[in-house]
Amino acid sequence: MTKLNFEPGAPVAEGGIPLCVPELRGNEWAYIKECIDTNFVSSVGPFVDRFERDLANYTGVKYAVATATGTAALHISLLVAGIGADDEVLVSTLTFIAPVNAIRYVGARPVFVDAEPEYWEMDPQKVRDFLKNDCQRVDGELRNLHTGRRVRAIMPVHILGHPVDMDPIMALAQEYNLVVIEDATESLGAKYKGVMTGRIGQIACFSFNGNKIITSGGGGMIVTDNEAWARKAKYLTTQAKDDPLEFVHNEIGFNYRLTNLQAALGCAQLEQLDDYIAVKHRIAESYTNAFAGVPGITPMRQADWADSIFWMYTLLVDETLYGMDSRALMRKLAKEGIQARPLWQPVHLSPAHTGSYAVDCSVAERLNRDALSLPSSVGLSPEEQQRVVNIILDKE
Ligand SMILES: Cc1ncc(COP(=O)(O)O)c(C=O)c1O
Repeated sequence: MTKLNFEPGAPVAEGGIPLCVPELRGNEWAYIKECIDTNFVSSVGPFVDRFERDLANYTGVKYAVATATGTAALHISLLVAGIGADDEVLVSTLTFIAPVNAIRYVGARPVFVDAEPEYWEMDPQKVRDFLKNDCQRVDGELRNLHTGRRVRAIMPVHILGHPVDMDPIMALAQEYNLVVIEDATESLGAKYKGVMTGRIGQIACFSFNGNKIITSGGGGMIVTDNEAWARKAKYLTTQAKDDPLEFVHNEIGFNYRLTNLQAALGCAQLEQLDDYIAVKHRIAESYTNAFAGVPGITPMRQADWADSIFWMYTLLVDETLYGMDSRALMRKLAKEGIQARPLWQPVHLSPAHTGSYAVDCSVAERLNRDALSLPSSVGLSPEEQQRVVNIILDKE
């Protein structure tokens, strides 16, 4: 049995197939060398500016601010949107935990929203039901009837590279005067009705963590059309310096800067993003074709209003029909040196966030039980993919 390192982005043992690792095949080396040759290796430099400019152009937003991580981008986005102590933010429960942690960093509380069963994204109907039935306007402010807290924002998380159904979310946000902060960390390049994720809400965040479609080693980006918010985001991520010479700081800032080295990697990766999306589509199509009609296997789908990037290919395993559950299938793949993983524990069940309000989240709980993400690296070869498929079809 091949021994695997299960950390996302970590090198996999000889002969193994990792879940989702970086693909470095463009100008990465040349740009990193340029940083070293010019001595711009730290938190300022031409690649930071260029990465911000290129990302803003790619997504079609006016301003982009680079950050050390996607989590830092989410933290700062909440701050510039004015979310603070005892505010509430509606957030997808079926997500990696980072956006919920960011809500807590600013002293606010999550209100967990279930996933819809078709595409597994935040359910706009449940957002509507909560706002309509569980909230009340008191002195011009929207209050959660159960907690008494002020409801201020919605943070839809576009999971697995597929967009959330944003039109109803935006309409509700307008009706109830809520800010929309998109967590687009898994969906760079995905479109909702032809519009890039990240330019639908008032502010959005991307991640360039090692397992994302493109990586800067680690890193994030805040994007917005709001100039004042962009300026504030830059200020807060760079230690809130008001007088850099005399070290005057009027606010508490953060050292959330991306280094020029990381940005150099990011610039080179961004040049290849469209190719990578095409590869992800091919990988998804092959998996979906291979599993069509297999009893108990439900492949992930794409809504007709969506251009998914199929960041991480995921399927559902029905134990009764397939003959084993998702965790047993994961162990079977692992025995052959193949990394697969379940979706995240829905965050309303996370011990880290007990005591927060949640709507009925039974869909997310079922998805968590049944889902399994399969190897989806841009560098996955057709032969490797066939090995994964053969084990799932039990042809080995
Ligand atoms: C949905 C989601 N939000 C936020 C993050 C945080 O990004 P980072 O790891 O760059 O902090 C991630 C992934 O890492 C993510 O998958």
